[in-house]
Amino acid sequence: MNSLSGEVTQRRPLWDIPTRVFHWSVVCLLPLAWWSADQQRFEVHQWAGYTLLVLVLSRFVWGIVGSRHSRFTDFLVGPAEAKRYIQGGGARSQGHNPLGGWSVMLLLTLLLAQAVSGLFNSDDILFSGPLYYWANSDVQSAMGVVHEVVFNALLALVGLHVCAVCFYQLHRREKLIQAMITGSAPGKEGLAPAVSKWRLLPILILVSAGLWLLIAQAPAPVYLGF
Ligand code: HEM
Ligand code: HEM
Repeated sequence: MNSLSGEVTQRRPLWDIPTRVFHWSVVCLLPLAWWSADQQRFEVHQWAGYTLLVLVLSRFVWGIVGSRHSRFTDFLVGPAEAKRYIQGGGARSQGHNPLGGWSVMLLLTLLLAQAVSGLFNSDDILFSGPLYYWANSDVQSAMGVVHEVVFNALLALVGLHVCAVCFYQLHRREKLIQAMITGSAPGKEGLAPAVSKWRLLPILILVSAGLWLLIAQAPAPVYLGF
């Protein structure tokens, strides 16, 4: 019985492998990007930033072609349903609840804005992003502001995210963290089989190649680090 339900759970994870790898990679890379900017280690910072950009763009595509609970259609709901949820009406999806779904969308959008603005950013001394010399001075300074403001917004939202996860985990006793690590947990099982994880490979390759082509077209970044 156990092994049968274990098997079913394995085949129908709440979070498929790409979604979990995406999540825990972001958890490692965001502090790395922060630390490396703080230490002016821009050779590290740019690679953390490029990797985050590729991961986030791929996550957006995975939100369309990924497994059921990773898809945006599974967890993004309209205002009426969100209101019903807030009034205690329960969630439609096994995955992100209506509020969680929109906060995930906001997190992904902020991460994207942060990484894209970095491409146009410069510290005016040691390092310029690869698209810095493509932009006029208005865009350059706007992107500098975006890079700083969005990061503070990200920090606030991540703080809220971790508090919300802890609330559901500790107070409501929902095994959210286990599910984000192993794919499923009691009470946190998926309703449909996962799509093949290999579907992610062409997405990663295309997104990385697109970014590489874009950077290759641009004037070379000026890097004076030593
Ligand atoms: C850098 C910090 C973090 C960021 C940027 C972040 C971002 C995200 C994002 C974007 C998702 C949605 C996953 C998806 O559908 O692709 C998510 C979900 C989740 N995160 Fe995080 N996360 C962070 C830290 C953490 C930490 C430290 C924990 C554990 C305590 C955690 C636990 C979870 C859980 C359990 C979910 C699933 C929530 C649910 O069931 O609706 N996250 N996170
Ligand atoms: C999601 C990815 C990224 C995160 C979380 C991030 C985070 C940060 C943070 C916290 C700072 C210091 C605050 C500031 O001065 O604005 C910073 C500065 C900077 N970042 Fe990023 N960054 C990311 C992506 C990138 C990328 C892809 C590039 C370019 C390849 C880049 C280039 C820069 C530059 C040039 C600065 C210095 C700005 C200055 O001193 O005014 N960043 N970044």
